[in-house]
Amino acid sequence: MQTVEFIDALKCGVPKIDNQHKALVDMINFLIQAREDDTPTENISFVLGEMNKYVYLHFRDEEQFMLENFFPGLAKHKVIHETFEAKVRELQQLYDEGETELLDEVLEFLTNWLVNHIQGEDLTMVQEIQSNMGL
Ligand SMILES: [Fe+2]
Repeated sequence: MQTVEFIDALKCGVPKIDNQHKALVDMINFLIQAREDDTPTENISFVLGEMNKYVYLHFRDEEQFMLENFFPGLAKHKVIHETFEAKVRELQQLYDEGETELLDEVLEFLTNWLVNHIQGEDLTMVQEIQSNMGL
């Protein structure tokens, strides 16, 4: 599987959010590489767990940003985050229970979801906030 390049089209222009998105891309790339290298499942499981925690923190920061900027789509965006968090938790649990052959599917899901979410909802959210501020 191809690693993900953190290209400019994935940047929304808010440094804190961009840095966190970059960290998530780095974690996904680490997992893609680890899979290629036949890294032991315990190590992959550990990184999946760390990623879970990081996703949680990142979403709360993003939601705080929306709140501070009176973003009207916050509730809807929050639901999208929570649905993703639940899915990641579920996949991690299945992996921990021994369904290690799921890893390809997990990585594909994480990559597609993240790239689509950043370029879709996140970018729209930042643009809307900026246009409301008259930027
Ligand atoms: Fe988001």
